[in-house]
Order: sequence, then structure tokens, then C-alpha cells
Amino acid sequence: MPITVVGPGDVGSVFVRAAEGAGEGVRVVRRGDDVRTSSLREGPIVVAVREEDLAGVAGALRSAARRAVFVQNGYVEPILEPLGEITRGLLWFTAKGDFFHVLGPSPFFGPQAESMVALLTRSGIDAVVIDDPVDQVREKAFKLAWSCVVGLPVALRATTLAAYLDQERVEAAALVDEVCSVLSATWGIPISASDAYARLLETTGELGWMTGSTKGLSMRNGAIAQLGRAHGVATPVNDRLLARLQ
Ligand SMILES: NC(=O)c1ccc[n+]([C@@H]2O[C@H](COP(=O)([O-])OP(=O)(O)OC[C@H]3O[C@@H](n4cnc5c(N)ncnc54)[C@H](OP(=O)(O)O)[C@@H]3O)[C@@H](O)[C@H]2O)c1
Repeated sequence: MPITVVGPGDVGSVFVRAAEGAGEGVRVVRRGDDVRTSSLREGPIVVAVREEDLAGVAGALRSAARRAVFVQNGYVEPILEPLGEITRGLLWFTAKGDFFHVLGPSPFFGPQAESMVALLTRSGIDAVVIDDPVDQVREKAFKLAWSCVVGLPVALRATTLAAYLDQERVEAAALVDEVCSVLSATWGIPISASDAYARLLETTGELGWMTGSTKGLSMRNGAIAQLGRAHGVATPVNDRLLARLQ
């Protein structure tokens, strides 16, 4: 089946190559193109723009939401929930320029999950459909905990991820703990911080060279701090890191 990829950056290019390798038609929508035209074509629409560009793209795809596949790392629920039934993909691979590494199976859930898993696995990228809503929530939490550690605190220390996880493991574990507590309170589902921390360690062995990022913070550490306030869960580590940024 042909696919459309909105945002042919690092992640979008992985889907473009996977579709080309499988002999599927692929149409690319770049910044400045009219995103709404993708809803006129058949097939899944992989939205691979960064979190900060998501709201405009998601709004333009409202009429084709069931065909849309969102792969953003952050807390993007306020943008996606109004769309109704959509597909989420939590990507456990890292693509940055020429670097590509599969960190683990990428879970997908929603109407396009089967086709996305088939597409990625055909090109050698491990992916899995997750049907259980509780498991979906846990997977979202594990990915958000990962993003809250791999980005902001590493960037603030101007160090590498390997050095951060080696020297600041108490802080890293506390960050994961905060994310899991906040998301447990938000979603009403127990989320194991020790499982989330284990996932972080399992998936970062090849990423020690990464230097962190402060992009999209309002949907990562900032969202956790805000949700914590809304649900009465203290987030002192995230608060301290966010304050240092200012
Ligand atoms: N990279 C990874 O390894 C990885 C892994 C897991 C999840 N993710 C998630 O995937 C998302 C994309 O990350 P990325 O690393 O691929 O970012 P990226 O390399 O910056 O790619 C984003 C692409 O979207 C384009 N874009 C922005 N607004 C657009 C619009 N309105 N219409 C069409 N295209 C638009 C950008 O164009 P410009 O070049 O003009 O900005 C760029 O080509 C992020 O939310 C990230 O959290 C990334």
C-alpha cells in the first residue's frame, strides 16, 4: 500500500526508505507543502515532524486522522486526543544523520499499527503491535521517561549521555521516578519506575556519544512538571533542571 510521509527528516527518511525497499509507493510532504493534500490520497500518513511542528500538521489532518501515524516522543496527547482514533508509534531506534541503530522493538497501536509493523519489519527494523491499552500506556511512559533523561540533563551538563548515566545515576533514576509517578497519576495506571529505568539502560548502550538537547521541552520535562502540579505530584528534579535552563 502506498504511504505518505510528512516531514522527511531523520525519522521520516527511515519510513521513506522502508517503503521504497518494499516496492511501495511513497509520497513525501515537506515543510511549506500543503499537508491537507495528503488526506486526499489513500494509505497511511506517517507524521514525522518534530513535536514543536506537530499542532499545525495534526490539525490539517483531522479529516484523515484514522490513517495518520504519529511517532513523536513527547507528551503530545493534548494535540492528538482531539483527533480521535489515530495510530501511535513509539520508535525504539535512533536515526541521526548517517547514524542508525535499533534499540529494541518499536510498539505501534491504532488502526495503522499492523501495516506499520509489517513495513518496518520487512526492512529489518524490529516493531510490534500492542493491543492492550495498559501496555500502551506503559510504553508511552517508558518512552517519555527516556526522553526526559536523554535530552535536558545531558545538555545542561554539556556532557555525553554515557558520562551522565555514569556520574549522575542517582539523578537519572530520580527523573525516571518522577516521570512514572506523574504519568501514573495522570493516566490512573501503575507504571514501574524500575522497569522504565531498566529500559533506559538497556537502550542507551550504543548512544553514549549523544550530547542531549533542549528542544521540545514543553512536551517533555516541562509537560511532566506541569502535569505534576495538576495532579499533586512533586517534581523537584525536573523543576530544578528547568530552572537552570532559565
Ligand atoms: N531521530 C530519532 O532517532 C527519533 C527517534 C524516535 C522518535 N523521534 C521523534 O520523531 C520526530 C521527528 O524527529 P526527527 O529526528 O526526524 O526530526 P527532524 O530530522 O528535524 O525531521 C523533522 C522533519 O519535519 C519537517 N517538517 C517540519 N514541519 C513540517 C511541516 N509543516 N510539513 C512537512 N514537514 C515538516 C522538517 O523540515 P525542516 O527541515 O524544514 O525543519 C524535517 O524535515 C520527533 O518528534 C522525535 O521526537 C525521533
